[in-house]
Amino acid sequence: MSKAKKLFVKTYGCQMNVYDSERMVETMSEQGYEVTDAADNADMILLNTCHIREKAAEKVYSELGRFKQLKDEKPNLKVAVAGCVAQAEGQEIMRRQPLVDMVVGPQSYHRLAELEQQAAQHGRALDIDFPVEDKFTHLTKRVKLKRGPSAFLTVQEGCDKFCAFCVVPYTRGAEVSRSVQQIMDEASSLIDQGVCEITLLGQNVNGYHGVDEKGKAASLAELIWRLNDLKGLERIRFTTSHPNDMTPDLIDAHGSCQKLMPYLHLPVQSGSNRILKRMNRSHTAEQYIEVIEKLRAARPDLLLSGDFIVGFPEESDADFQATLDLITEVNYGQAYSFKYSTRPGTPAAERDQVEEHIKTERLHVLQALLSEQQKRLQASMVSKTVQVLFEKSGRFDGQLVGKSQYLHAVHVEADTSLIGSVCDVRITQSNSHSLNGELLK
Ligand code: SAH
Ligand code: SF4
Ligand code: F3S
Repeated sequence: MSKAKKLFVKTYGCQMNVYDSERMVETMSEQGYEVTDAADNADMILLNTCHIREKAAEKVYSELGRFKQLKDEKPNLKVAVAGCVAQAEGQEIMRRQPLVDMVVGPQSYHRLAELEQQAAQHGRALDIDFPVEDKFTHLTKRVKLKRGPSAFLTVQEGCDKFCAFCVVPYTRGAEVSRSVQQIMDEASSLIDQGVCEITLLGQNVNGYHGVDEKGKAASLAELIWRLNDLKGLERIRFTTSHPNDMTPDLIDAHGSCQKLMPYLHLPVQSGSNRILKRMNRSHTAEQYIEVIEKLRAARPDLLLSGDFIVGFPEESDADFQATLDLITEVNYGQAYSFKYSTRPGTPAAERDQVEEHIKTERLHVLQALLSEQQKRLQASMVSKTVQVLFEKSGRFDGQLVGKSQYLHAVHVEADTSLIGSVCDVRITQSNSHSLNGELLK
């Protein structure tokens, strides 16, 4: 039996939270913790939370409630809340849920081990500061954990765009880019640990402008070109981008950078210029389409993904129709769509709200259209040859699952020795959310 203390982690929200959870696991592994899949075994429970919509935030409280009995049985169990709900409602969490020992925000989680000690001494600990010194200087090395061939790497954090519906500028703070050197070092250490695909992360990743060795600001495209030179790295992706920061050098990179994959998540939220303005998106539907046309001219097979909000305050039937029209024009291979959710403290929360049943109907119509596009694009892959990076074993014996360059999940009969390799696969069948294929020799 291993004597290591057990850490149970549950992560909500976006990929940046997934990355942060990994970093917290790494920090705590240096304190003798190892990850467990079962909360009942844990010495510490860590919830890394998301505040983006009301339901996401409420989930945290119901989840915490479920640990009450466990905590009664094991008084030494430590419960920590991290992430964006911690940032937004730290004090409130402490007040509403006495079983919580630690609350830590997205910019101060490098202090998690210290907070654990503080909580042991004083009962509870909270740190939701935006410290002047950045956490990455404390988190330099990636600790070797069991990881697959694909990894996330946060290059930029926070957001200065202040879309009228969004909490991110408040929970994650102002836009900050990490230095090129820091990112290159982290990428190299991931590659040394067997990673061959890196997804660069940022709430506004294409607004990246980290300093290079000469003290000059580097764009995301420049960073991608630098990563492209790293031996052992085979694939580069990035998410999430804002249409206004889709600069010409980044558009060109999609056509010319060999390791940059032909998939782009480019949220637009609405197709109505009136609503886009009210959302403070600072671009029109036409400008968005123009960016997409340029991207497709550079890389014709680019698969596009988007985010949509239905029922934003004051959205009329005509506004909603404009969103459907935009979707029809773009033809998305993947999409995420949400009913507008009121977020206290954001400008849109104070406005005339759309009735719930109308939001529900619109979401239904919009998702039907998106799902039809997604299915059609997926079906068009059948009989094509794609490149698949095998990530893990599949559900059935002898089967592996991987991702094509277009980020489609592909199931293939293949030997586990191929995990971590990129192979040519001929697509044989399209299922509802994945493809089947056969390995080409
Ligand atoms: N930085 C990214 C994504 C931020 S949050 C971007 O700029 O696109 C992810 C998605 O959640 C958003 O794209 C938006 O579609 C959705 N979202 C954000 N706030 C929301 C709210 N109040 N209600 C419903 N959906 C929301
Ligand atoms: Fe939120 Fe808008 Fe910033 Fe994206 S760009 S994180 S939607 S404020
Ligand atoms: Fe959620 Fe925070 Fe990400 S609010 S979407 S976890 S930045």
